[in-house]
Amino acid sequence: MRWMTDRNYVLIGFMGAGKTTIGRVLSRRLRLDFKDTDALIESKTGYTISDIFAKYGEDHFRELETEIIAQLAESLSNTVLSAGGGLPINKNNHSYLKKIGKVVYLRVSSETVRRRLQNDTTRPLLRGSAAEVNERIEHLLKERDPIYKALADKVIQVDALSVAEIVSRIIAE
Ligand code: S3P
Repeated sequence: MRWMTDRNYVLIGFMGAGKTTIGRVLSRRLRLDFKDTDALIESKTGYTISDIFAKYGEDHFRELETEIIAQLAESLSNTVLSAGGGLPINKNNHSYLKKIGKVVYLRVSSETVRRRLQNDTTRPLLRGSAAEVNERIEHLLKERDPIYKALADKVIQVDALSVAEIVSRIIAE
């Protein structure tokens, strides 16, 4: 039912792009709810994302993501959803993301990701020495960027923009 999904936004993009920060501000501005797939997975399982990766592996985490996004596609309305950075990489999730609402890709450079996440301990994919992490960021970003772009209804290069500017661009038709 199209009318149910008219007021949903889905934010996609790489770790550190600002999906959660932007999503919260956007939701307040438009008086919508805010949801985050990582937070939903954590509250459903009772484990942190890092614990899930460590105990059950990445493949299991990806299954949980697909379960959650399939459920959300049936139920969300009046919501801004922040999708975990790897969720759009699984093609099976594309129809769910599209069904939920307007998909906005917050596009970020590897330099910005490096700067923002250099002291982060919550992303299991970005563990290791600085050199390893930098290489992983470059590799994943290159691999994922075309996928995010192809899926998005709107692409915003966020590096040089303030939160307020990004929110305005999302809202602008
Ligand atoms: C991941 C991104 C994370 C989280 C997990 C894996 C990824 O979410 O789902 O660590 O594969 O890019 P954020 O994009 O919210 O950091």
